[in-house]
Amino acid sequence: MRTQVGIVGAGPAGLVLAHLLHRRGIDSVVLERQSREHIERRIRAGVLEHGTVDLLTEVGLADRLHRERMVHRGLEVLYDGVGHRIPLTDLTGRELTIYGQHELVKDMVAARLETGRPLLFEAPATGGAELAGPRPVVHFEYEGRSRTLECDLIAGCDGFHGVCRPAIPTTELTVYEHDYPYAWLGILAQAPPSSDELIYAQHERGFALHSMRTPKITRLYLQVAPDEDLAGWPDERVWAELRTRLDRHDPAWHLSEGPVLDKAVTALRSVVTAPMQYGRLFLAGDAAHIVPATGAKGLNLAVADVAVLAAAIEDWYGTGNTALLDAYSRTCLARVWQVQHFSWWMTSTLHRSPDGDPFSRQLQRAALHQLTGSRAAARAFAENYVGLPLVVPGSAGDPLTPAPIGGTSHDPP
Ligand code: APR
Ligand code: PHB
Repeated sequence: MRTQVGIVGAGPAGLVLAHLLHRRGIDSVVLERQSREHIERRIRAGVLEHGTVDLLTEVGLADRLHRERMVHRGLEVLYDGVGHRIPLTDLTGRELTIYGQHELVKDMVAARLETGRPLLFEAPATGGAELAGPRPVVHFEYEGRSRTLECDLIAGCDGFHGVCRPAIPTTELTVYEHDYPYAWLGILAQAPPSSDELIYAQHERGFALHSMRTPKITRLYLQVAPDEDLAGWPDERVWAELRTRLDRHDPAWHLSEGPVLDKAVTALRSVVTAPMQYGRLFLAGDAAHIVPATGAKGLNLAVADVAVLAAAIEDWYGTGNTALLDAYSRTCLARVWQVQHFSWWMTSTLHRSPDGDPFSRQLQRAALHQLTGSRAAARAFAENYVGLPLVVPGSAGDPLTPAPIGGTSHDPP
């Protein structure tokens, strides 16, 4: 097969990129290892930044989102049994959207199929070749046969466990990693949310988070050990621990419970791969970086990456100029590290460190006192939480748009 941009992976990064390229008249083929059912049922996060929703709305991917989403203008930080509301919208003029990632993937798959452009399911990429040459190739399996996809560019949107990042010689990459000494036990429950907004709870028994998906479905998380055995957590024990950690000095407070629909343990880690480009291969989303779930940034960062990549690819096909493609990695990594810092700060401040070091415990308290006691601190938090404005090279106000330089050897076909 032959196309302009080969996209490996139909997660948020791959599907949003495919759509942005389609709107720019640029051809692409999306290869997805799993079946359609699998990716449309995969329970993941569900908090969308203001900028992410703006972009999805602008490109026509947000009709159902706007009909079914929940809009949040604040969140609560709970510690010492007292809840403190952070008025995100008052502080930033921007709002949050609660809309399940798998719902968004459903919408984007439908939009892709409507374009008539290729989206191959159960088509695992097995490797890449000629990545540094003018005609990179993706090898993949499809309908029981080995196939090749010849492209001008490859977008590695195949998540952390994909084949694109490993296709880059390790000597070409620097991988920054940090594993947190705890994990999350997450449940999806058939129960109405117990609060209109998210609750981030710091408790001596560990972190807890009250989130939601719809007025009937709640999403809740508990801090557990990295190697926690799910078998040790029957539903009743999960609810008992949530009641304890989300408890407060308010007799009116009540945690509403219900049948548990999904239960899983997820690790908390930070990973950054630099650069996010190798020759004609561009990594985006979880293929390049992982953030701990505490800041709800994974999906939003994936969308921010491909917004930058789509604009750079369009500029290359339009002008033959590689400046924006060459700036892709640098542009994205500036945002990735900002978001990593914010996610690390939230994670380190709200979780109970297993070593129970009393000094760091007091520092955590001081950080929470400042967050909930200083408007300036709350604003800085809110700006990061609702999402830093999306910087798209070449767009108005982009500080990185360099003066056009002469054509380079990578002239488009
Ligand atoms: N060939 C084809 N597809 C592949 C391959 C492969 N070899 N390996 C993985 N994939 C697919 C996966 O099945 C998945 O559908 O790539 C897709 C990657 O999607 P995500 O993991 O969702 O990654 P990304 O699009 O970067 O979105 C990041 O999603 O998982 C959340 O928490 C994460 O919020 C973050 C966001
Ligand atoms: C979620 O709703 O799944 C969620 C919300 C906030 C987070 C992480 C996950 O920080």
